[in-house]
Amino acid sequence: MKSDNATDGCQPDRHFPRIVTDLGKQGWSLASGFLDETAWTPLFMRATAIDDYRPAGVGRGDNHHRNGFVRNDGIFWLEVGHIADAVWLDLMEQLRLAINRALFLGLFEFESHYARYRPGAFYRRHLDAFRGQGNRVVSTVLYLNPDWHAAHGGELVIYPPEATEGQRFLPRAGDLAIFLSEKIPHEVLAARRSRFSIAGWFRMNGSTGERPNPAF
Ligand code: OGA
Ligand code: MN
Repeated sequence: MKSDNATDGCQPDRHFPRIVTDLGKQGWSLASGFLDETAWTPLFMRATAIDDYRPAGVGRGDNHHRNGFVRNDGIFWLEVGHIADAVWLDLMEQLRLAINRALFLGLFEFESHYARYRPGAFYRRHLDAFRGQGNRVVSTVLYLNPDWHAAHGGELVIYPPEATEGQRFLPRAGDLAIFLSEKIPHEVLAARRSRFSIAGWFRMNGSTGERPNPAF
């Protein structure tokens, strides 16, 4: 049935129930069209305007180092003082509460950075957290690439623990990938043009990262 509500497309929280169900059942979810064009455009403009991307590292705390064989994207941490960033952080706060209500994961805070993969950049298969180390529980990636086609590469590949093959997703503007940080291996295939996203992590309470706690 066609909806009469013209603002339907502007309500990302309509995706929350499905995301929460998928996370509980299989440990990952892909919300296609999580943000509509009016919502992702300011984030895309911000991502492309940042001129201070820093080489990303791997590992946390004392283990943190740069490793161009594992990943070679550039990152820039979100700033609460920037309106586009604040809007995204607010929405992730709503999602945090929805996940906690349904799954009792005890998510405590959210940390998030823009990422830019230049043509040829990749991030090899990895987990975002290791059991007993770090405290990242749920990972999010919002994609910010208008008109992205298969020929551009840069797919996210998710490796569900029970599946034999990975599931590939194009990093299309407005789509949100979300998965359990300790349980779902994933990778970013080499992109053929610049690829923008916002990666984020819901964390449990505790200060084991290289960033101050709380992060913001
Ligand atoms: C990450 C990551 C996936 C993506 O930043 O840890 O795995 O599709 N990103 O950008
Ligand atoms: Mn990752």
